[in-house]
Amino acid sequence: MLKKWIPLVYVVLLACQTAPKVENVEEVSIIPQPSSLKTGEGYFVIDEGTKLGIVGNESVVLPVAKHLNQYLQAVSGFELDIATSDKGKEANNSIVLELTGDNSGEESYQLESSTNGIRIQSGTAQGLFYGIQTFKQLMPTKLSSFNQQADLPVVIPSVEIEDQPRFGWRGYMLDVSRHFFGKEDVKRVLDFMAEMKLNRFHWHLADDQGWRVEIKGYPKLTEVGAWRVDYNTTDETVSNWWGRPVQKPGDKATYGGFYTQDDIREIVAYAKERFIEVVPEIDMPGHAQATIAAYPEISCTGGPFYVATGGVYKDNTYCPGKEVTFEFVENVLGEVMDMFPFDYIHIGGDECNKLSWQAHDQCQKRIADEGLEDEHGLQSYFIKRVEKIVNARGKNMIGWDEILEGGLAPNATVMSWRGETGGIASARAGHDVIMTPSKYCYLDLKQGHDDLEPNLGYSYSFLKDAYEYKIVSDSLTAEEGKHVLGVQGNLWTESISDWGKLTYMSFPRLYAIAENGWTLEQSKDWEGFTHRLQAQFKRLDAKGERYATSAFNVWIEHEGGGKSVDITLRTEVEGLDIYYTLDGTEPSINSNKYEKSFALGKTTTIKATSFRRGKQVGNVSEMTFPVHKAAGAKVVYHTAYSSRKSAGGEQALVDMNYAKLNSGDAAWQAIDGDVELDIVFENTTEVEKLELTALRMTISGTYLPETVEVYGSEDGQAFKKLGETTQLEASHTQGRNKVTTAVSFDKVAVKALKVKAKSVNPIPEGHHRAGSASRIFMDELVVY
Ligand code: ACM
Repeated sequence: MLKKWIPLVYVVLLACQTAPKVENVEEVSIIPQPSSLKTGEGYFVIDEGTKLGIVGNESVVLPVAKHLNQYLQAVSGFELDIATSDKGKEANNSIVLELTGDNSGEESYQLESSTNGIRIQSGTAQGLFYGIQTFKQLMPTKLSSFNQQADLPVVIPSVEIEDQPRFGWRGYMLDVSRHFFGKEDVKRVLDFMAEMKLNRFHWHLADDQGWRVEIKGYPKLTEVGAWRVDYNTTDETVSNWWGRPVQKPGDKATYGGFYTQDDIREIVAYAKERFIEVVPEIDMPGHAQATIAAYPEISCTGGPFYVATGGVYKDNTYCPGKEVTFEFVENVLGEVMDMFPFDYIHIGGDECNKLSWQAHDQCQKRIADEGLEDEHGLQSYFIKRVEKIVNARGKNMIGWDEILEGGLAPNATVMSWRGETGGIASARAGHDVIMTPSKYCYLDLKQGHDDLEPNLGYSYSFLKDAYEYKIVSDSLTAEEGKHVLGVQGNLWTESISDWGKLTYMSFPRLYAIAENGWTLEQSKDWEGFTHRLQAQFKRLDAKGERYATSAFNVWIEHEGGGKSVDITLRTEVEGLDIYYTLDGTEPSINSNKYEKSFALGKTTTIKATSFRRGKQVGNVSEMTFPVHKAAGAKVVYHTAYSSRKSAGGEQALVDMNYAKLNSGDAAWQAIDGDVELDIVFENTTEVEKLELTALRMTISGTYLPETVEVYGSEDGQAFKKLGETTQLEASHTQGRNKVTTAVSFDKVAVKALKVKAKSVNPIPEGHHRAGSASRIFMDELVVY
C-alpha cells in the first residue's frame, strides 16, 4: 500500500513548486510555540527507505531514535533502519539525530527539515527528545492516530526551528486519591505530558478519600486507606461528591486501588524515558482522613475514622503533639524517597483544619513546650520537622502555600495555589516557588458557560486566563523573579471519575499552560495559539480523545425583558463568526449570522455554533427559553423571599430571567423554608402545567422542594387543588445541579394560581446543614 503511494506523492510534490499543495500537507502548528520558527518551501516524505542516522554517543542517542521509530511504527506501520555511524550525517533521504557539543541549555534543540531530509540537533538526549516531539507535530494530523495508517504519506513541511524553554519547571498534577487512575492511565498521562514538553509529574497520592501507594512498613495504609464505600456516579449532570453519606460500621469499602512499589518504579522509569521527573505528594498534616483511618494512633483522638467517601472533611489531621506521628512520617517518607529518585518531595500542607489540635492536651503541651504562638505555629513546627526528615536524605521539600502560616521552613519550595500572594511572598523571602494559582492553573474548575458545560467543575478557569497568566509577577525584582521555577496545571479529581473526563478538563487548558511555561513571553500569541489549537484538536480526534471546545463554543446569554427574552451570543475566542437557528435545526454557515442581540417573543430553542474562515470551530450550543403565560403577572408572597437573594424582588419569578447553574447568579430567588405564593394573571388564563426550576446546592443548605402543589382560582379568592408532584428521594439527594419539577393538570381557566413548595425540614442527619430547614432557590415559575 505504502509503496504504491510514494511515487504518486513524489509526482505531486515535484509539481508542488507551482501546483496546489498535496492534500495532507498541513500548516505548521506547534504547541508550545518554538522560540524561533521559519517555514520554507517544499516537503520531505518519509518512507521505508528513509534512514534514521544517529550521530554522537550511541548510548545517549539510540534510545531517543528508538522512541521515534516506535512512534512511526505505531502510526504508520513502518520503522526506519538506524545507521549508527557518522555516515548518517551525510545521507539524503534521512532523519539525523545529532548529539552536539552544544551546551546552551539542557532542553534546547534545533530542527531543520528540507526536501532532502530532517536534522535534529541538541547537546542532550532530552533536547533530541523534544525535537522529536516537535517533529511529531509536523506530521499530518491524521497520523496522530494509533490505528496504523500505512496509506497516508508521512509528509513533513520544510522548517527551521531553534527552541528552548523559558522555565525549567513545567508541571501537571494528577490527583489519584479522589478518583483512582491505574498504572496504564498514568502512562497515558506521561505520554501527553511529553508531547507538550512538560517535565514534572506531580502525583497527588494521598488525601482524605484514598491512600494510593504501597508502604511496606505500614500495610494498613493500602489495606484500609486505599478503599472507600462506593458512591461514585458517572452521570455528568449530577455532581454528588460534596453530598455523599459517610461510611458507617459494617459498610463495605469497595472503591479504590493503589500502586505497588513495583508499579511506582515502573512508572518512574517510564517517565524518565520521557524526561519527566515524578514528584510524589503525601498530603499532611491535613487532608489525611484515609491515613488516620488506617493508623488512628497518629491522630489526636485515636478515632475510629473511615476513609472519606467524598466531600470535605474536618477532623482529618495528623497529631503533631505525639512523637509516634513523626516516627510514622519518617518511616513513610523514607520508603517514598526510596521509590522516587527526583530531588523534590511534596508534603502537601494545605487546608489543615486545626480544631482537633485546639482540643488536644498533647498538642497544647507541644505549643507550650516549644514556645509556639498558636496552632499556626504548631503547623509550622510540624512542617519544619518534616523538612528536616526530607533534607536529611538530600531532598527538597515542596509544600502548598499554607506552609507560610506560622513561619516558612528554612529550605522549603512553595507551590502557590491560593492566588499569587504566597508565591510572591516566598520569592521575596528567597524561597523557590512554583506558580499554580487556581484561577489560571486549576484544571478542575469550569472552563465555559455554566449551563453548556458538563457539570464537572465549580468556579472558573478559562482558556485565555490560563494562556495569559503572567508567571513571574511584575511586582518581583529580577533577582526575586529567579526564584520562580515555573508553572503547573493541577487536576483535582473530585468530579473526574474516568479518562474521558480527565482529558476533557485537561485539553486544551494544559496546552495553554504548557505554552506559557515553555515559550518566551514575546513569542506568545493568544490568537495564534487558538488557531494552532485547531491542529491539536484534529490530533486529539485522531487519537479518539475527549476535549473541550468551550472557548470556541457560543455562550447563549439571556435576560428577561417583560414579554420576551433578550438573547446575546458570544464566544471566549474573539473574532469568530456565529451562526444560529431558532427552528430546532442544526446550525450551519447557511443559517442566521449573528450580528446583534435579539428578542424571543415565543418559546424557542436556540442552536448556535461558531466558524473561523468558513470552518466550524465550536460545538453546537443549545438552550430553550420558555416565553410563558405567567410572564409579567403579579406575584403575592405568603412566605417572604430572602433579602440577601431576592433576584430583584416581587417580579423575579415571572420575569423570564432564567438562572444558571451557579448559586451566585443574581436570577435565583431564595426562600428560607416553605414556599407559598399566588400568581395573579391580568386576565383569566387557560393553564395546564407549571414548571419550577430549583437549584440543588446542598453544601450550603439549598435543597429541592419535597413537594410542589398547584391550586387554581377562578375569582382570585377561592383556590382548588389542580395538581401536585412529590419527590422525596430527589429532594433528599445531595449534590450540585439544577432540577425542574413539573406539575401537570387538566386544562382550566383561572384568574390566579397558588404554588406551595415544601422545604426539607429538618435536613436529615448525615446531610449538609443537618437539623435546619432547607432553602429553596427558584428562578421562574413557568406556566403553560
Ligand atoms: C489545594 O488545592 N488544596 C492545594
